[in-house]
Amino acid sequence: MNKSRILIVEDDDGVRETLMVLLKGAGYEVEAVADGPPAIELTKATPFHLYMIDLRLPSSSGIDIMEAIKKIRSEAVCMVLTAYATIELSVKAMKAGAFDFIAKPFQIDVVLNLVKNALEFNRLKLENRSLQKMVRDKYRFENMVGSSSEMNQVYELIERVSDSDSTILIQGESGTGKEIVAKTIHYNSPRRDKPLIPINCGAIPENLLESELFGHEKGAFTGATSSRTGRFELAHGGTLFLDEISEMPISLQVKLLRVLQEQTFERVGGVNSIHVDVRILAATNQDLEEAIVDKRFRTDLYYRLNVIPIHIPPLRKRKDDIPLLVDHFIGKFRAKKNKNIKGMTDEALKLLMNYYWPGNIRELENLIERLVVLKREEGYIEAGEIPEKLVFSRRRAFPFQFDLPEDGVVFSNVVSAFENQILDQALARAKGVKNQAAQLLQMNRTTLVEKLKKRRVITSMAEKSEATATRDQFYRDE
Ligand SMILES: Nc1ncnc2c1ncn2[C@@H]1O[C@H](COP(=O)(O)OP(=O)(O)OP(=O)(O)O)[C@@H](O)[C@H]1O
Ligand SMILES: [Mg+2]
Repeated sequence: MNKSRILIVEDDDGVRETLMVLLKGAGYEVEAVADGPPAIELTKATPFHLYMIDLRLPSSSGIDIMEAIKKIRSEAVCMVLTAYATIELSVKAMKAGAFDFIAKPFQIDVVLNLVKNALEFNRLKLENRSLQKMVRDKYRFENMVGSSSEMNQVYELIERVSDSDSTILIQGESGTGKEIVAKTIHYNSPRRDKPLIPINCGAIPENLLESELFGHEKGAFTGATSSRTGRFELAHGGTLFLDEISEMPISLQVKLLRVLQEQTFERVGGVNSIHVDVRILAATNQDLEEAIVDKRFRTDLYYRLNVIPIHIPPLRKRKDDIPLLVDHFIGKFRAKKNKNIKGMTDEALKLLMNYYWPGNIRELENLIERLVVLKREEGYIEAGEIPEKLVFSRRRAFPFQFDLPEDGVVFSNVVSAFENQILDQALARAKGVKNQAAQLLQMNRTTLVEKLKKRRVITSMAEKSEATATRDQFYRDE
């Protein structure tokens, strides 16, 4: 069995030595130091099961040292030693998180008993933590469905980052579950009992966003008839979820960067600096690196946010999850709509597995809701009930008839000319919105952007070369 480790922090040589001998004799592993700083160094290196700290130390008070230790090891169990055991002091120490108090001079059996109790408490606390972890796992699996290897990687990452305070950038196409991941991280973090405050940077007009984030003082601008607390302040102690971060105006990005670095800000129209303790989670369905190239997003903010990236793969890349998700949503809507639907036939499921899912899980969820609502009788959802759009989207007849000229063609030129036509039409129909154009073509947005970039390079090369004639674009010169 592992021995319990105890650290004694006591400047009185006699007391320190006596305790050492006593506790070692009782079978504990004991280290002892005469002041706070070495105790902190030791704590950083390895945890102890119990800390026994003198209230009066040469460099600072024992309470300060205890607080510093708890900052490093929040689970540390600390006991305070003092020759001046006043009620006032003991209340102060307890408030600062001391488990118990030992008055000097002490009796051997009293000390041994208190140490035993404290260690037992520590053991229970750790056990309770693993119990909580089981509850957390349950939370995770109840809310997030999917057992593909891609999703397991996401779960693992969530698990690893939840306990920390690190800033996380959640990336994924629309409807992949960015918000649900943000919630899962918050509710599995030590901040779970504090608020999770979301803000959708894309949904709030630019002139209001600053006051939404940082609050404002009365009279700060026309219409500011009273002061207002911003979301940073509301999230104090908890988590702020900056959704659609790519939509944040560049002017506000500078201010956000400052809060992230210093955790302080001023309200709009205010002069006092406000300090907050907030963990940041950010989400985007845009390629931020591209936004940086387009000068819509600051590089320094990107690096500050992207401390730990979590990428949620699109549904088409984890088709193994579709049957589970279908069951999950049928269950959800069956209960909600009070319909006795047993499930989906294999044939219908196969159609869903073959679809491209540009709207990801949200699109699947909406489809299942619709199917459940529309179903007249009980039983299984059948292939005939799946909307045509899903069935035929991949199989529509190829609308282009190509006739190979006698003397052949330059294959790559023909293909890229055709590709360009498709891209142009999709962009025109989507009014230039790349996301929508990509969806029309059932293509990744990043692929579309890559293609456009490549085209820009080719066009500019072509413009430079005077020799380029359109005649040569399609047909070989021979
Ligand atoms: N793994 C999952 N298991 C079960 N339901 C999920 C899962 N992922 C997402 N959902 C559900 O799909 C819907 C969309 O998820 P969410 O809102 O988190 O996506 P999003 O990535 O934030 O989308 P958008 O980019 O459009 O804001 C929600 O109803 C959510 O509950
Ligand atoms: Mg979202």
